[in-house]
Amino acid sequence: MVEVETLRHGHGRRDILDITAWRVDAGERCLVAGPSGSGKSTLLHLLAGLATPRSGNVRVAGQDLADLSPAARDRFRGRSIGLLLQSFHLLDTLSVFDNVRLARHLAGLPEDRARCRKVLDDLGVGELGDVRPSTLSHGQAQRVALARAVVNRPAVILADEPTSSLDDESCGRVAALIEAEADRQGATLVVATHDSRLHGRFEQRLVLDAPGAGSER
Ligand SMILES: Nc1ncnc2c1ncn2[C@@H]1O[C@H](COP(=O)(O)OP(=O)(O)OP(=O)(O)O)[C@@H](O)[C@H]1O
Ligand SMILES: [Mg+2]
Repeated sequence: MVEVETLRHGHGRRDILDITAWRVDAGERCLVAGPSGSGKSTLLHLLAGLATPRSGNVRVAGQDLADLSPAARDRFRGRSIGLLLQSFHLLDTLSVFDNVRLARHLAGLPEDRARCRKVLDDLGVGELGDVRPSTLSHGQAQRVALARAVVNRPAVILADEPTSSLDDESCGRVAALIEAEADRQGATLVVATHDSRLHGRFEQRLVLDAPGAGSER
């Protein structure tokens, strides 16, 4: 579950987000749409606890993020939130397998090599465990990043523009993969995108206003 109330946020003097109430129930899927600069990525950062809102409440999987210390928020993110950002941030000093393993370690979870192997297999990149991320194609790297995002069985998956640079066929495939992973865990899924090809796939939608539509402080 993801829930925000009277959320306001901005950068510098600019107001970017002003959301009175928005909620996605456990296991449901929501698309966050809106033109470039409307605050889609900013909202995902707030949901992930990577930024703190100017005002308002953000609850993820029942947890109010403001009630957590920075260290506890990092731990919570590692265990409960699967993040798939536009740049994958895979560590090239580690193998693909160890990138996925590291996600468990950073979240303070016990080693589980079988689980790491399974998510890579499920996503069709099980053969690539020993290679360095820099040798992967874009699509392979994205699958590895998705494996890392879901290895801890997060309650919530947040994906930022997962399909914007893809052709139609890859777009459908990637969207289906993310949805399948969300279904497998019963996770709540929030996808931020201006890719109109994804709009029909989501029953719920939050549409953010164009930049400049809000007030300047
Ligand atoms: N770290 C930052 N410092 C200052 N301004 C920022 C910062 N990050 C984003 N912004 C501004 O906040 C606004 C919203 O940005 P954001 O990246 O959330 O939009 P978006 O909807 O994700 O856009 P896109 O579709 O291009 O990805 C933009 O005007 C952007 O310039
Ligand atoms: Mg964005």
